[in-house]
Amino acid sequence: MGTGQELYNKAKQLIPGGTMLLSKRPEMFLPDQWPSYFSKSKGCTVWDLDGKKFLDMSIMGIGTNALGYGNNEVDAAVIKTVKKGNMSTLSCAEEVYLAEKLMEINPWADMVRFARTGGEANAIAIRIARAASEKDNVAICGYHGWHDWYLSANHNGGDDLKAHLLPGLSPKGVPKNLKNSVFPFHYNNYEELLDIVEQHNIGVIKMEVMRNFGPEDNFLQKVRALADEKNIVLIFDECSSGFRETYGGIFKKFNVIPDMVMFGKTIGNGYALTAVVGKKSVMEAAQSTFISSTFWTERIGPTAALTTLGIMEREKSWEIITATGIKMQKGWKDLASVHGLDITVSGIPAMTTYGFNYDNAAIYKTLITQEMLKKGFLASTNFYACTAHTDAHLKSYFEALDGVYGIISKCESGEVNANKVLNGPVCHTGFKRLN
Ligand SMILES: Cc1ncc(COP(=O)(O)O)c(C=O)c1O
Repeated sequence: MGTGQELYNKAKQLIPGGTMLLSKRPEMFLPDQWPSYFSKSKGCTVWDLDGKKFLDMSIMGIGTNALGYGNNEVDAAVIKTVKKGNMSTLSCAEEVYLAEKLMEINPWADMVRFARTGGEANAIAIRIARAASEKDNVAICGYHGWHDWYLSANHNGGDDLKAHLLPGLSPKGVPKNLKNSVFPFHYNNYEELLDIVEQHNIGVIKMEVMRNFGPEDNFLQKVRALADEKNIVLIFDECSSGFRETYGGIFKKFNVIPDMVMFGKTIGNGYALTAVVGKKSVMEAAQSTFISSTFWTERIGPTAALTTLGIMEREKSWEIITATGIKMQKGWKDLASVHGLDITVSGIPAMTTYGFNYDNAAIYKTLITQEMLKKGFLASTNFYACTAHTDAHLKSYFEALDGVYGIISKCESGEVNANKVLNGPVCHTGFKRLN
């Protein structure tokens, strides 16, 4: 057992759930064998606690580092800020410069509030939008964080959030009187949204612009028109999709403008900064309620975001990572076809995933992580591209993956027993208790 696995066993005693983020739990990749902790990261390379080096062909910090880990320019700006002071009784000027920059990127918007996590930005946006619309009820489509307002949807009578990222999210601890205040609708199902809006006095619609599939039949245009007709605040959550397809929101591609949008993840390239950007008519409602937090005023986040936005604009990073993602998607499909395997690839190219269309899908996913780890890759069945990923990285990744697909193919033909290929337990696929 490596140092990381040992430390994780200790963590499970000290930290309920083992880590602060479900997606980084070792059980989501390779129970008992995942290296779990890093000592160093740079570009798209990660070193574990024993100094073993891995090429990160998986979630890249769960999409935080589109310019690679430890980007020299971003780090230099942050180090300068650290040396000059991260905090003081006075506010940092960078938050105003960043606000101006975000207005330049979003000419339809007038104002912005900053936070440090995506869940916070979502909670802020919901508070402001509820205050602006003077209505409590919200329709949602997508994953919008862990806060009470969102999780309360699972009080409505079932696992309503199952279709929106993860099954099995328990609303325990969320007040039951929030029941029937948040109503999930399925992507591309306009009739369902219309029904919810007509039945539940909806004041806010919040959605991811796209995740696994694109809009069909003018879905986004119809949602916009409905929001206009019923005086509903329309919010796009671009915490994950932002700056991966355009210089800003993916909504720009579809010519639909929201009333508010949240950005996170990519915007600070690994440093914590999230933004709620919106029209003055809505954003000013922030002054009629109380939204305030000490560490939303620290200086590293806006410093990192300003520098990151400058680099992205200069390098057109969204084009680079999209091109890499397209190669990845093509590579998976080609390799599957060579081995006669049935897979479904989805997601925008720079944040993409695939699944095996077999009963043993979870075993195969775990097998990929197990075998690729031996060959020096952090890999699963999803991929977040960064500008540090090169064609040479993709080539070595596919050479290694070829052997694993070979084993999977033999499992499907019956030559190899799928129940015997794993050296440990199968990975978790949804939310599970660890004990
Ligand atoms: C669309 C979207 N919104 C909100 C969040 C929550 O962000 P955080 O994990 O920073 O709280 C995520 C995280 O994956 C996300 O993808």
